[in-house]
Amino acid sequence: MLLSLVYMSAANQVFDQERLDALLEHARVRNAASGLSGLLVYKDGRFMQLLEGPEAAVLETYQRIIDDPRHTDVGLLVEERIHTPRFGEWKMAFHREADAELPDGFDSFLAEGDASGDTSRARELLRWFRNHPMAAPDAALGKHRR
Ligand SMILES: Cc1cc2nc3c(=O)[nH]c(=O)nc-3n(C[C@H](O)[C@H](O)[C@H](O)COP(=O)(O)O)c2cc1C
Repeated sequence: MLLSLVYMSAANQVFDQERLDALLEHARVRNAASGLSGLLVYKDGRFMQLLEGPEAAVLETYQRIIDDPRHTDVGLLVEERIHTPRFGEWKMAFHREADAELPDGFDSFLAEGDASGDTSRARELLRWFRNHPMAAPDAALGKHRR
């Protein structure tokens, strides 16, 4: 079994393309070494990231991410066991705003505070990740899809 996490956070600095590229480049090298994959979204000073892979590696990486001073207010939104990585082809895919609509919860999350108790929002977010154009189509066919 693999572990899949989704969190949101607020950037502590402006992430221009250069900074995002540097972050992604480093994350991809580290994730490749740990067998992790996922998708990172950045918009208006907020991050949302799905991180998936072997449990120990996901938890160790997530702890490093939480401790990263470049962002704050890291809030875990979804934690689930999966059989097949959704973004297995991507050491860390990056979602640009124009690629697809962001989920409804994205803009209101920080204003409303921790949404960890809101299971409908978590389900909506998972649907959004599953249907993302960068997600592997065969990962969506698993029996745990719904
Ligand atoms: C929004 C955000 C997403 C990140 N995603 C990852 C990631 O997917 N994998 C990873 O190893 N580090 C990620 N990092 C970087 C870690 O927080 C940390 O800086 C880095 O792993 C430290 O690497 P080092 O020990 O090689 O210096 C992310 C940081 C931020 C701010």
